[in-house]
Amino acid sequence: MSWSVDSWRKFPIKQQPSYGDKEALAAVERDLSSFPPLIFAGEARNLKEDLARAARGEAFIIQGGDCAESFAAFNAETIKNLFKLILQMSVVVTYSSGKPVVKIGRVAGQFAKPRSSDFEEKDGVKLPSYRGDIINDIAFSAEAREPDPYRMVRAYYQSAATMNLLRAFSRGGLADLNEVHRWNLDFIKSHAIGKKYEEVSCQIDKTMKFLKAVGINSKNTPQLRQTNVYTSHEALLLNYEEALTRIDSISQDWYNTSAHMLWIGDRTRDLNEAHIEYFRGIKNPIGCKVGPSMQPDELVELITALNPDNEEGKLNLIVRMGASKIEELFPPLLKAVKESGKNVVWTIDPMHGNVEKSSTGFKTREFDNILSEVKSFFKIHKEHGTVAAGVHLEMTGEDVTECTGSASCSITVDDLSSRYHTQCDPRLNANQALELAFLISEIFN
Ligand code: PEP
Ligand code: CO
Repeated sequence: MSWSVDSWRKFPIKQQPSYGDKEALAAVERDLSSFPPLIFAGEARNLKEDLARAARGEAFIIQGGDCAESFAAFNAETIKNLFKLILQMSVVVTYSSGKPVVKIGRVAGQFAKPRSSDFEEKDGVKLPSYRGDIINDIAFSAEAREPDPYRMVRAYYQSAATMNLLRAFSRGGLADLNEVHRWNLDFIKSHAIGKKYEEVSCQIDKTMKFLKAVGINSKNTPQLRQTNVYTSHEALLLNYEEALTRIDSISQDWYNTSAHMLWIGDRTRDLNEAHIEYFRGIKNPIGCKVGPSMQPDELVELITALNPDNEEGKLNLIVRMGASKIEELFPPLLKAVKESGKNVVWTIDPMHGNVEKSSTGFKTREFDNILSEVKSFFKIHKEHGTVAAGVHLEMTGEDVTECTGSASCSITVDDLSSRYHTQCDPRLNANQALELAFLISEIFN
């Protein structure tokens, strides 16, 4: 079966917009195809090596960011706070586990959303669902919900600017380990969890002083002053992804240059459909969500299709069963993959299987359920002698009220309305995410 960058177009496909103006769509695709890449293939290869390390238990992956980025919430502060939060969580995990953290943002391209229904109905009016800012607008009007191909261009520019800032933060001094105190976000500082973070920071200060005394400092040791934050998103809108898929001049292989890592959603991972066809041809490290309907033999077939050369660090399986289902549904999958001898990188998304509707009408997630699914994931791996390589979270560096619970901020159902800002699914706020990092670090001890 030959693959080409557009061979996915011959396959059935789910969760796509229907563009009215085909000429405008073609013009946008042509433009995007000529735009510069957002990442280099060499960076994607480095991430693959990092993921392989995590799969061997030598590193731990923290992947996180918005459920959906938006055009409206695009500003430096939001990006900086997410960056700081990822660094804080990484420090906490590295400090307790002794393992480096592979940092991956759900950022700089996370715009397209699969939806449970093609339509949304309000007061007798039925309109196409909102599918993410790269496709249409969240406002509830016929005009706003019309898919607009030019949104892909805007998403590209926003991704480029976001990536630019992340690179600047990573290399320009903010990631220096002498700055650990500065990563503590203002609204967390006064909370118990912020204070706990300060304690870890003080320990790191001492270590830095010691290292400096023996001649190792951030001037002569780049690892102390800079980091790598990789980017990732769900490659759902294949028109956009195809336009940014290019041949790498060094390896002559095809790479998606819109992000370092791309993943396939739980609703579009059918073996005979377009997304699998597209993904099997790109060389980036890739992810695939593994939800409750996945069968063991189906999973092994999927791995074979997506990672035919059985490369290490190539394929990340992102388990998202839900706290009440993981103990029953995950072990048979893990066993089948282990017996197949195939290389995969297992991580846990404890968000998407734990969505509930609050009595006040908000889509929310309870912190205890999120933590419980993470703990089950680690426990099951321990029982099977396999490696829990990381977590995949929907989170923000902002002080939002979208998920309930946690000791650090104990958000109740009644609090949800106060700062419920998400475009799509409820995210952990910075307090909750940092608390989760501390609880994960306890699992390592
Ligand atoms: C997501 O990660 O935002 C998502 C839609 O997840 P899933 O495909 O697991 O439902
Ligand atoms: Co989501």
